[in-house]
Amino acid sequence: MAQGLWTVHNRDGQRRVVVTKELPGERWVRLLTAADCRVEVSDSRTILTPAAIEKAIGNECAAVIGQLTEAWQAPLLEKLRTAGGRVLSNYAVGFNNIDIAAATRLGLPVGYTPGVLTETTSELTVALTFAAARRIAEGDTFVRSGRFADCGWLPMLLLGKLLWRRTLGIVGAGRIGATYARMMVEGHKMDLVYHDLYPNEALEASVHDYGAFLEAHGEPGVTCRRAETLDELLAAADVVSIHTVLDESTHHLFGARQFAAMKPHAIFVNSSRGPLHDEKALVEHCRTHPDFYAALDVFEDEPRTEPGLADLPNVVMVPHLGSATGWTRRSMAVLAARNAVAMLDGAPVWNRPDVLVFLEDDAPAAAPGIVNADDLGLPYYQDATEERS
Ligand code: DGY
Repeated sequence: MAQGLWTVHNRDGQRRVVVTKELPGERWVRLLTAADCRVEVSDSRTILTPAAIEKAIGNECAAVIGQLTEAWQAPLLEKLRTAGGRVLSNYAVGFNNIDIAAATRLGLPVGYTPGVLTETTSELTVALTFAAARRIAEGDTFVRSGRFADCGWLPMLLLGKLLWRRTLGIVGAGRIGATYARMMVEGHKMDLVYHDLYPNEALEASVHDYGAFLEAHGEPGVTCRRAETLDELLAAADVVSIHTVLDESTHHLFGARQFAAMKPHAIFVNSSRGPLHDEKALVEHCRTHPDFYAALDVFEDEPRTEPGLADLPNVVMVPHLGSATGWTRRSMAVLAARNAVAMLDGAPVWNRPDVLVFLEDDAPAAAPGIVNADDLGLPYYQDATEERS
């Protein structure tokens, strides 16, 4: 057994699965033990180092359920493969913590948990946006410190920004970006401008239909357009929210030049990945532009924050809480367990949008999400009806 404090479930299970953090709920454990796995769960509340994970993998390990906070580079992936590892199941929808190319070279499938974070992360992004716009954190501090009791209601106390019918800019119009955009457009009648390599026709159609609905009820409509360039979006938007993946091409997508290109009173929101922004440049921009606000769920060098960031009143921050609801975190655990079991059983991979079927007891015998399924040539799921036709 690995060193440190570990909880072991189903000691006699034939397939050893290492889980590097305790996960919420019990269903994920039941799924693994029912599949003849011996499940060893780390009780650690700090981030395990690659050396500690290597030690936990030991000489024999069929699968690991890992965390987005762990750096899975080639040597660690190799260690897992040499120990007989058949899958690394990441407990996250993002997978920038893993060298996917190395995993693919080693023939190691990498699981992820799409579909159960979409609304949850979008809601958190809405909450952060308004926390910045309406100065919620500053107001909270003001009341707690007793200053409100001293002055009472004042006509000019903590004036914020009205987002109603302003312009929202999203960078990346995938599942979470598009869902957040619709919450903001439909809830607050904002016009939408988005920047993405690919047009999102479903998003454009839904904003168009919503605009037509408003007009049919005697209200001004709302608009949606795809910006050709990021600069075009930055010039137009009152709120700019990033929803793109982190890779070499998007590292520091937002730096001093991009912040300067935004409106002076704009709100910058990042609930995606910290290194998408240059945090030093953000601190400097917020320091010199007091009307500009930043709302952050993620940080460039997480869990550390850039010196100076915490001193700025025009920055509101939470500790990477995008997916932090009980339902989502339990569902992520179920998907992570199902990815592990499916790969250990040689099952195919699901490639359809409705991932919620994997939360059902009679879920398909498939892996909900394998990042490198195509490159590894893994078979995709076909149900009996499709096979017959
Ligand atoms: C993910 O799953 O990638 C999220 O960042 C966790 O909230």
